[in-house]
This record gives sequence, C-alpha cells and structure tokens, in this order.
Amino acid sequence: MCTTTVCTILIAFLAFASSDYTNFNDFSEMVKKSISESKRYRLPLDNRKIAYTADSSTNEFGEFDFIVVGAGSAGAVLANRLSEIRHWKILLLEAGGNDNDFSDIVGLAAHLFYSDMNWGYNTTAQKNMCFAMPNNQCIMPRGKARGGSSTINLGIYSRGHPEDYNRWEQLGNEGWSFDDVLHYFKKSENAVFEGRDEGYHGNGGYMHVDVLRPTAGFQSAIFGAFQDLGYSNVDHNGPNPIGVSRMQFSLNYNKRASTSRAFLDFFEKRPNLDLSLRSFVTAILIDESKRAYGVEFIKDGRRYVARSKKEVILSAGAVNTPQLLMLSGIGPKQHLGELGIDVIQDLPVGEHLADHVYYPALFYRSNQTFYNQTVDDNIEDYTYNLRPLTSALEMVSFVNLSGSKVDRPDVEYMITVPTTTDNLRLLNPMKEEFIMDVDALHDIWFPLVLLHPKSVGKVTLQSSSIFDFPLIDPNYLSDEADLQTLYRGVQFIMRLNETDTFKTYKATFRHPPVPVCDDNHERFSKEWWFCSFKTYSVSILHPVSTTRMGNNPLTSVVNSRLQVHGMKDLRVIDAGVLPELNSGHTNAPTIMVAEKAGDIIKSAYNEICFQ
Ligand SMILES: Cc1cc2nc3c(=O)[nH]c(=O)nc-3n(C[C@H](O)[C@H](O)[C@H](O)COP(=O)(O)OP(=O)(O)OC[C@H]3O[C@@H](n4cnc5c(N)ncnc54)[C@H](O)[C@@H]3O)c2cc1C
Ligand SMILES: *[C@@H]1O[C@H](CO)[C@@H](O)[C@H](O)[C@H]1NC(C)=O
Ligand SMILES: *[C@@H]1O[C@H](CO)[C@@H](O)[C@H](O)[C@H]1NC(C)=O
Ligand SMILES: *[C@@H]1O[C@H](CO)[C@@H](O)[C@H](O)[C@H]1NC(C)=O
Ligand SMILES: *[C@@H]1O[C@H](CO)[C@@H](O)[C@H](O)[C@H]1NC(C)=O
Ligand SMILES: *[C@@H]1O[C@H](CO)[C@@H](O)[C@H](O)[C@H]1NC(C)=O
Repeated sequence: MCTTTVCTILIAFLAFASSDYTNFNDFSEMVKKSISESKRYRLPLDNRKIAYTADSSTNEFGEFDFIVVGAGSAGAVLANRLSEIRHWKILLLEAGGNDNDFSDIVGLAAHLFYSDMNWGYNTTAQKNMCFAMPNNQCIMPRGKARGGSSTINLGIYSRGHPEDYNRWEQLGNEGWSFDDVLHYFKKSENAVFEGRDEGYHGNGGYMHVDVLRPTAGFQSAIFGAFQDLGYSNVDHNGPNPIGVSRMQFSLNYNKRASTSRAFLDFFEKRPNLDLSLRSFVTAILIDESKRAYGVEFIKDGRRYVARSKKEVILSAGAVNTPQLLMLSGIGPKQHLGELGIDVIQDLPVGEHLADHVYYPALFYRSNQTFYNQTVDDNIEDYTYNLRPLTSALEMVSFVNLSGSKVDRPDVEYMITVPTTTDNLRLLNPMKEEFIMDVDALHDIWFPLVLLHPKSVGKVTLQSSSIFDFPLIDPNYLSDEADLQTLYRGVQFIMRLNETDTFKTYKATFRHPPVPVCDDNHERFSKEWWFCSFKTYSVSILHPVSTTRMGNNPLTSVVNSRLQVHGMKDLRVIDAGVLPELNSGHTNAPTIMVAEKAGDIIKSAYNEICFQ
C-alpha cells in the first residue's frame, strides 16, 4: 500500500520532473506571481523593440543545409525530423524565447495572452462581428516562444473528420487524402488512454495525447444529456467525430505537450541542429534565379545573415509567414506595388484567410456544485493531475445540423465547468457592458464553434516596414450562411433542457443580456440571435489558408509538396498551407503537415524511399 507521504512524494516528483521546482511552495509562488504579472503586462503595438539594431552592420551567422523560420507547431517538428539525417545541418530560428513551467499549465493559458509569449495582434475593426470588443477588433494571440502557438494554446488535440482530408486531395493535392495522412497523425502521437479507437491513434510518438481525470458529476451529466438526444460517446479522433466525447489534449500527465516539449526538449542537443532563440527573421534572401539562399535576422540588437545550401523553410505561422513573404517581394502584385515593394513573384499570399469563430454566451445553470475551492487548492490539485488547471475545457460534442449528404459535423460545442467571469475576460477582453457574469459553482459553459465558415478574409501589410504589424482582416460572418449555421447551433443546444438527464440536474438554459439586441429585437427571435452572434462571437484562433496548398498559382501559394509556386528552394510548412479549415482544431493538422513534409523533403534528396 502506498502511504499518503509516499504518494505525495511520487506525485510531486512527476509534477516537478524536468522543472526548476523541487518544493511545492516555490512552485505555488511562481504560479501566483506569473498570474499577477500577466495582469500588469502591456502588449507591444509594433515590432520596434524586437527589430531594434544598435548599428547597421551585418554579421555572417554561417551556412546550413536547411534554415527553418519559426519553432512553432510545425517548425519544431520539422527541425526534429530533418536533423534525423546526421549529415544535414539545420538552423532553427525563433523570434521568441523559452517556454517555462508556467506555460506548461494548460488551464492557465489565457494568462499567456498577456505575456511576451504573444505577438499581440488584433484583427482589424470587423463589420459583422467582434462588436463586444473595443473598436470591433477581436484579439488574435499568436505564440512567440519555443513551441509557438502550441505553447500558449488550449491544448485541444482534435483532427476533424476524415472527409476534411479527402477534400484536400479532391482540391488537387495529391497524397493528402485521409488514408495518406493518418499515418502522420499517428506518427507524432503517444496515446494510451482507455477508450480510444486504437486503429486511429499512435502510441510510440513523441507527443502525449490524453483525456482528463473527470470532474465528479459533470461527465455523466453531459454524456447522459447528449445520449438523450441520440448522440453516443465516441472517440472524437476516431473514424467519425459526430457524437459526444471526453476532449483529448496534448498533455503529458498534468503538463502541456507542446511541440517544444515533445520535439525539441530531448533533441535540441543534436550536434547538427542549431536552435537560435530571440532571432527575428526580417527578410528572405533571393537571387536572380528566384532561388531562396538564406535569411536575414536580428538577434540581441545585431543584424545577421544565415545562408542555406539546400532550402529555406517558412514555418512562421499563418500570419507571419505571409508577412515575411510579402516583405520579401512574394505576394499580390497590386498590393505590393501600392506599398513600393519590388515584386519577385505574383501570388495570392495572405488571401483566403479562414478562421473558426465561436459564440461564447451559452450556459446552463445546474443544481450541482462542481468546484468550490481556492487558488491554492487548484494549484495543489494540479500537481495531482486534477482539473481545473490541467485544462480549462473538459468535454466536446461535434454535431451535423445542416442536413447535407456528407456527414461532416458543422458545429462543435466545447463543454466545461468551472468557468469564471475572470477567465472569460482574459480569453476575450470585452467592453465592460458585455462582460458575462457567470456562476462559477453551477454554470456549465457551451461555447459553440462554427466549423465550416463561408466567410473569408485576408492578411495584408500595413507598410513595407518590418516594424509594423501585419493587418489581419478575417471578414468574420460576412456570409449570412454562417449566421444560419450558428442559429441551428443554438436551437440544438437549447433542446438539452428537455432531456431527462438535464431535468434531474435542474439544468436551465442561461444567456446574458445583450443590451443592443434586447432593445431592438424580441429575445431569442432569429433577428435577436443574429444580432447577438455579431456582438459576442469571437475568434477561436485558427487562422489558416493564407499560403494555401493547391496546383493553381492563381488561387494557391504552394504546391502539394509545399514549394512556393515559381520559386526555388523555398517551402512554406505551417497552418497557412491548409487548403481549407478542418472540422476540428488546427494544431494536430499542422503537426501532421510537418510530419509529412519531413518525409517529402527527405525523399526529394533521396534520404528515404517514400511512396
Ligand atoms: C491562444 C491559442 C489557442 C489555441 N488553441 C488551440 C487548441 O486548443 N487546439 C488546437 O488544435 N489549436 C489551437 N490553436 C491553434 C494552433 O495552436 C495553431 O493552429 C498552430 O499552433 C499553428 O502552428 P504554426 O506552426 O502554423 O504556427 P505557430 O505555432 O504560431 O508558430 C510560428 C512560430 O514562428 C515564430 N515566428 C513568427 N515570425 C517569425 C519571424 N519573423 N522570425 C522568427 N520567428 C518567427 C513565432 O514566434 C512562432 O513561434 C490555438 C491558437 C492560439 C494562438
Ligand atoms: C489590441 O486591442 C487591445 C484591446 O482589446 C488594446 O489594448 C491593444 O493595444 C490593441 N493592440 C493593437 C496592436 O492594436
Ligand atoms: C463554498 O465554500 C465556502 C467555504 O468553504 C462555503 O462557505 C460555501 O457554502 C460553499 N458554497 C457552496 C455552494 O457549496
Ligand atoms: C449526421 O451524421 C450522422 C452520423 O454520421 C448521420 O447518420 C446523419 O444522417 C447525419 N445527419 C444529417 C442531417 O446530415
Ligand atoms: C427550455 O428552455 C426554453 C427556452 O428558455 C423554454 O422555453 C422551455 O420551457 C424550457 N423547457 C424546459 C423543460 O425547461
Ligand atoms: C438536484 O435536483 C434533483 C432533482 O430535483 C435532486 O434529486 C438532486 O438531489 C439535486 N441535487 C443537488 C445537489 O441539490
């Protein structure tokens, strides 16, 4: 039998292994200090500080086979896979610094939005959404750290529906059907939790995937209520996500399994892999034959040039990769011309920006008290791998409501307790009158995600200067079909109160007041809902398709081998290449793309036999 002391020591070891903390009080102090620092942090308004140089000289950094720009979800995986070839020399450049023990706490991720691990972007003022946000601008956090956005995200591991990838292939991307890519999803993954569909999960990869230890009374209520409506308990990363599930996360016991933790921690010591942090890439070097031969970057106030013998690979994400391409002369001719940038290659860079939006104002109030504890209790529970700090979310349901023949889901509900007014405010700093007052003890939160928005927008440049942030205009909810889908989504969730299960929990539907809509429309009428969608909906932070994959250079930026059309030795490998949004979240597909890209590149240089 294991005595309490032995258990505590064992668990403390697991919790603090590979961290600087050997003592619980120090750990707890660090967490509380980081939380209060995030409350004071002021995000930058531009790149002036990070791009500062003390003088105008340029220094040689050296020559490498491959230069990877960005150590995020894709870049960290690529650097790992490419450096498996011992005679290849890899340089991985990352603008941000290290991740740490605080960023490992997935349930506190919203605090990282207010830290130097976030680039600090907002969308442009939106015409049809983000009305509860100051100036109609949604926040658009992007990871700026080892691990990129996988270091600040909410940790959800969700691939979508197999049909998502079959569509990629139908759009002209050979080799990207679900049957082709399943191997690469599994390759990264180490999933051993009970109840998974084993044919769809890997268990020998570097990245741990797990479900949470359940919140008492909560999972049974949700399973019961959805089953009452005809949805069964499924593995949402199995053959069909439609149903209700325990949500899967990139988690290693209680800690974040970012690509930094999974793909760099134990590998960055490889002698042929050079990781340079706080290195901000400002330009791609391109010769007369349109060959990319290196990059320019700024580190510690000095300007450097690094040269590539084989290729430059951009993994700076769906916002920064387009920025870097356009500043280097690769992008829409007219836009670059207007900014006085010489055009090297005319391509629709930054166009076709797609993003998932979610509607956060849906709650049920139950008669259960799910959580009633202090911050200290929460921190202690975290070391025992217990919620709420292991993750802010717990369950998920994917539903198809459109009646289309293909049974891909069209909406998703993330489902969780507890939710606090504070956490909602951190996730989306809405104007005072829109702050949602939740009862953290009894409210169940049902944020509703629009999985296949018809609205598309773009990423453009503000100027020809690297000092300026790019402009992100997703043009959210500009297509009325998106409002209709959200409307079907709320109709469905409001039916839960009719279920026997929710009746036993005395669970009643709650929605905060929406002053501007309440004044003009009958509450819960279709017009009222449309008004409220435009007010409360925000981004779930999945921008994709700004450098999308395809074979037509008029509508895509890279080919199915991820090479930039018309250029030599230049690839883009990050979320921007997704041809369209998946029916899920974007981290897993981005990692899959990088895994497959590793093999595509190795086979191009005859380092492996592949397909
Ligand atoms: C807050 C948040 C929550 C999210 N939640 C989830 C979730 O729970 N589940 C999910 O599946 N997806 C989630 N996502 C989305 C998912 O994390 C992203 O789709 C994915 O990480 C994108 O990977 P990437 O490699 O394209 O870019 P990133 O991971 O963002 O990596 C880009 C890297 O490049 C670096 N970089 C950029 N420009 C330069 C430059 N000029 N020089 C040097 N380095 C540069 C950046 O600092 C960054 O490290 C979330 C995203 C965010 C921001
Ligand atoms: C983004 O919006 C927030 C308010 O939500 C504001 O404080 C911040 O300065 C804005 N940042 C930029 C770069 O516009
Ligand atoms: C929550 O805990 C406090 C302090 O222990 C207690 O006073 C209060 O009654 C509890 N609330 C509920 C709803 O259980
Ligand atoms: C939704 O998906 C289910 C399960 O895949 C399928 O049986 C059903 O026909 C679909 N419903 C609609 C309305 O498309
Ligand atoms: C469910 O909620 C709707 C909308 O609030 C309400 O009209 C209906 O009476 C509720 N049904 C039950 C059984 O509570
Ligand atoms: C919730 O309500 C149900 C139905 O009235 C009741 O059986 C149950 O005991 C209540 N639970 C709590 C914690 O009050």
